[in-house]
Amino acid sequence: MSLLSVEKLSVNFPLRRGAFTAVDSVSFDLAAGETLGIVGESGSGKSVCVSSLMGLVPSPPANISGRAVFKGASLLDAPGETLRRIRGKEISMIFQDPMTSLNPYHRVVDQIAEPLRIHEGLTRKQARLRAVEAMASVGIPDAESRSRAWPHEFSGGMRQRVMIAMAMITRPALLIADEPTTALDVTVQRQILDLIKTLQREHGTAVLFISHDLAVVADVCEHLAVMRRGVMVEQGRSAEILRAPAHPYTRGLLSCHPALHEPGEPLRVMPELLDPPASEAP
Ligand SMILES: Nc1ncnc2c1ncn2[C@@H]1O[C@H](COP(=O)(O)OP(=O)(O)OP(=O)(O)O)[C@@H](O)[C@H]1O
Ligand SMILES: [Mg+2]
Repeated sequence: MSLLSVEKLSVNFPLRRGAFTAVDSVSFDLAAGETLGIVGESGSGKSVCVSSLMGLVPSPPANISGRAVFKGASLLDAPGETLRRIRGKEISMIFQDPMTSLNPYHRVVDQIAEPLRIHEGLTRKQARLRAVEAMASVGIPDAESRSRAWPHEFSGGMRQRVMIAMAMITRPALLIADEPTTALDVTVQRQILDLIKTLQREHGTAVLFISHDLAVVADVCEHLAVMRRGVMVEQGRSAEILRAPAHPYTRGLLSCHPALHEPGEPLRVMPELLDPPASEAP
């Protein structure tokens, strides 16, 4: 049975010059413990797609249609209270920019502990103990003493570890990671990807992983979906798509990726650059 089942999800924004469809009839299924990567260039609708599932796209003004069922509960028409309960307990999210996701005025330990206080009703002391354990489990050295630090005392990579500790502390069934490593340098990016993979395996967490980088997504996720201009143009097992991409756009993404293109073949220009959206065409 699916943990998350999304059927014909569409999101459009009314603009002065007509409605803009950011997500166009997207359907996918995610089983418990499964990893699905959504890849696509900037503006293809990846973030709007997952944010709308979490009730984070205000509607109105957006028009959101379709169905999304998580553990048997309908997400799109759920009352705010239900969504808040699911968010942060059953479904956690981590975002691109670890520099702005932490509150500068609260000690790191209290921010990691907060979901436990909200969702599990633990006392401050109990929650802090669990938070220090969580910091150690995401590879933060000297977790005990560092836990009392402030966010500005952490590097970008360490902050992203803090965000991951916070996201995993309630043992969510689903982790949504929206470009979690884009703001980090390559070595730190590698460490964070490895950490996400390890936690996913250890806890059997399902992961919805978003990136514009096909190689990153294929590394973390067993399944892959390719988005272009709001449409999911291709989905399947990552290995299969890398071996034999069915859609010309996926082939384009592969052929212009330095790490993935066939050796000996020339690197190509992004097909998108050669084929502007109709609205931008002269
Ligand atoms: N509130 C909004 N009102 C109008 N248009 C919006 C709104 N939010 C997003 N969009 C548009 O929807 C499209 C999809 O945006 P989205 O943020 O989902 O892209 P993305 O695939 O996540 O890109 P990136 O890789 O840059 O994060 C973009 O063209 C964006 O400008
Ligand atoms: Mg995005």
